[in-house]
Amino acid sequence: GFHMKKLIVGNWKMNGDLASNAALLQTLMPKITSATCTVAVCVAAPYLASVQALLSGSAMQWGAQDVSQHEVGAYTGEVSAAMLRDFSARYVIVGHSERRQYHGETDVHVALKAQRALAAGITPIVCVGETLAERELGQTEEIVKRQLAAVIHANGHCISEIVVAYEPVWAIGTGKTASPEQAQHVHAVLRAQLRAASAHADKVHILYGGSMNAANAQQLLAQADIDGGLVGGASLKTADFLSIIAAAS
Ligand code: G3P
Repeated sequence: GFHMKKLIVGNWKMNGDLASNAALLQTLMPKITSATCTVAVCVAAPYLASVQALLSGSAMQWGAQDVSQHEVGAYTGEVSAAMLRDFSARYVIVGHSERRQYHGETDVHVALKAQRALAAGITPIVCVGETLAERELGQTEEIVKRQLAAVIHANGHCISEIVVAYEPVWAIGTGKTASPEQAQHVHAVLRAQLRAASAHADKVHILYGGSMNAANAQQLLAQADIDGGLVGGASLKTADFLSIIAAAS
């Protein structure tokens, strides 16, 4: 809603290295104060320790891009919510379309991951969104509602503690952005679904993601139910990311 302090999250995806991460954060940090909007970066797990060391005491938050659906044990290669908490991760992205597409994540996995995060005191950023084919078939609402319903079903009691990100798959990394009206329409659908599940739905940040950039951020963020952005490519470029943050402030 209009009353909320906006939330801008950079999703670095599988980019960067120790040196470039540090250079990016050292440029961003002095320019970001908590008075404006909340800013976070979600980084690859191996970099959590160094990002924590760099950002501790700053106004910026950090998080991860995925978490295991399992709590602990013989799950080679997985990273648990408790491990993320050891590095003071404030957020974790769950159900990004790249995980759904390339790693076979289903709504059930995503719901479990959100549950693991919440149980560890980490805010899950739950991604939902339709493909181009689904949009063209008129299935957008049905798809995003099904994706969010799974998370609500498994986490009903604390659903107001999540962040939702609407990322139309056709807008990710393509330079094609949903129009402010297209995005607001879906955000309103998601808000209504959250309201039906929780009396505190109005405090849930619903982020837009998909080719958000310096040129389109302001108009998107001016919509009633767009409470921030989940930013991929533009979050790796200092000037672009700062422009988006300025548009959210
Ligand atoms: O999670 C953010 C994302 O998928 C959007 O990526 O590069 O289109 O901003 P991009």
